[in-house]
Amino acid sequence: MLTIALPKGRIAEQTLEKFEKAFGEKFVFEDRKLILEKSGFRFLNVRNQDVPTYVMHGAADLGIVGLDVLEEKEYDLIKLLDLQIGKCKVAIGLRAGESLDWTKSEIKVATKHTTIAKKYFEEKAMAVDIIKLYGSIELAPLVGLSDCIVDIVETGATMKQNGLEVGPTIMESSANLIANKNSFYAKKELILDLRQKIEATL
Ligand code: PRP
Repeated sequence: MLTIALPKGRIAEQTLEKFEKAFGEKFVFEDRKLILEKSGFRFLNVRNQDVPTYVMHGAADLGIVGLDVLEEKEYDLIKLLDLQIGKCKVAIGLRAGESLDWTKSEIKVATKHTTIAKKYFEEKAMAVDIIKLYGSIELAPLVGLSDCIVDIVETGATMKQNGLEVGPTIMESSANLIANKNSFYAKKELILDLRQKIEATL
């Protein structure tokens, strides 16, 4: 039995479609159920940012998660396969027409991705004041909460519609199959077989 943590929503649906292709069985979560057990798999329906937590603690052997979430958590997990879905990037967002002022003594950055943002500016030897937000990040520079944001950009529409411009890219992201280290060694054959079957659907 393999336990796989899936991030609620579109990525979970697209992942289950790949399992359907790979194993010829339909995998669908019933109504509000958070566990789906079928054909030797147990799927867990969890929040995006919680996927690495389940896998890190071994409550799930495997998980599907965006590289941005993985980078943010800094857990020691095995990356097995890029599923080539959920493609997006983590980028700086600025008020339209403005650019980053590197001469400032400190830049105020609003973001949900505090670790990634901190690392980016520290590598550029820029002092930052990181303001942690949980959503609607695009609002922060518009009302003077921050000088810029670090956020997920898929189409760029959210930033554009809110008077922001997409600035420098910090990292590219996509959904990856990840594994707990102990699970990987204990269930290596099962896991590598699964990896190969999913890879064949890509
Ligand atoms: C992300 C991000 C932006 C939006 C960008 O939010 O925070 O708001 O997507 O997409 P776009 O470039 O296509 O406009 P998401 O929908 O992932 O929800 P979240 O706020 O829970 O991260």
